Amino acid sequence: MRVAFLGLGRMGTPMAAHVARAGHELTVWNRTPGKAAPLVELGATEAKTVQDAVAGADVVVLMLFGPDAVRAVLPEVVKHASGALVVDASTIGPDAAHEFAKACATAGLRYVDAPVAGSVKPATDGTLGVVVGGSPEDFAQAKPLLDLWGDPERVMRVGDVGSASGLKLCVNQGLGVMAAGLGESLRLGRDLGLDRDLLLQVLSQTAYGWYLGQKRPMLDADDFSGTTFSVDLMAKDLGLAVEAADSDLEVTRACLDQARRTLAAGHSGDDYAAITGHIAHEGEAGSS
Ligand SMILES: NC(=O)c1ccc[n+]([C@@H]2O[C@H](COP(=O)([O-])OP(=O)(O)OC[C@H]3O[C@@H](n4cnc5c(N)ncnc54)[C@H](OP(=O)(O)O)[C@@H]3O)[C@@H](O)[C@H]2O)c1
Repeated sequence: MRVAFLGLGRMGTPMAAHVARAGHELTVWNRTPGKAAPLVELGATEAKTVQDAVAGADVVVLMLFGPDAVRAVLPEVVKHASGALVVDASTIGPDAAHEFAKACATAGLRYVDAPVAGSVKPATDGTLGVVVGGSPEDFAQAKPLLDLWGDPERVMRVGDVGSASGLKLCVNQGLGVMAAGLGESLRLGRDLGLDRDLLLQVLSQTAYGWYLGQKRPMLDADDFSGTTFSVDLMAKDLGLAVEAADSDLEVTRACLDQARRTLAAGHSGDDYAAITGHIAHEGEAGSS
């Protein structure tokens, strides 16, 4: 397979590495140059332009920040890829997935939305969950590729274009609410004079267990620089969720506001656990 992979961020780089290791003819591109070296070492070719990356590709994979990034790149894909299947692994929301599928169809390209569940480690291990929206035929063509970064048993078609992006938004909306909610649990505990370690130990036995299993070291160190999923991405996804709903998602909107305040407090680029930390510290002497 000739594969063009666009977007070499935290997720894109390890995902593309699986494609190279599987022996496919891989060309990679990133807006900011200088990120392709580990992939070139694995045999990939670095393209200087989107045009060069997608020309002659059978499959074009997008792993970009969000819908605006895809909007910036897709016109060049549509112009220069011929007959390819576009696999959009970015988290973009259902409306954008429909918009991009239409743009692709107009140019004779096929499109599936294929957002991923899991973060940098599962991406590196090739054990991501992948939900796919698109036709059964396009899913069948994409599946061998998706199985490279996904756990084959968790790579599944969930419906037509947009359905996967809808599911993904619901997942991240829940994570965002959890991150913000735990911040307030910690603040409440502080106000009640509870021992923080004891509180965290007990909260770990509740629905927060999964989250604390991953994020407790960051929260204890009050250092969120070991980013896997950034606050910026979470703010993007909470914003997409608020926009996508027909009714006012008041709780989600409040969490979006908190994510934005966390960014404004200097946590851009930090892990989204910084939302928990920022909220937990609010009201403390000296906090913003
Ligand atoms: N990180 C996770 O744990 C995780 C998990 C599941 C899903 N996702 C989703 O996967 C996608 C990628 O996440 P990530 O963590 O890899 O993000 P990231 O490290 O922030 O990388 C974002 C990528 O998008 C590119 N980009 C941003 N704006 C662009 C624009 N206007 N034009 C062209 N390229 C642009 C960046 O290029 P530059 O290098 O030039 O900035 C970079 O390659 C996102 O949609 C995210 O929501 C992430």
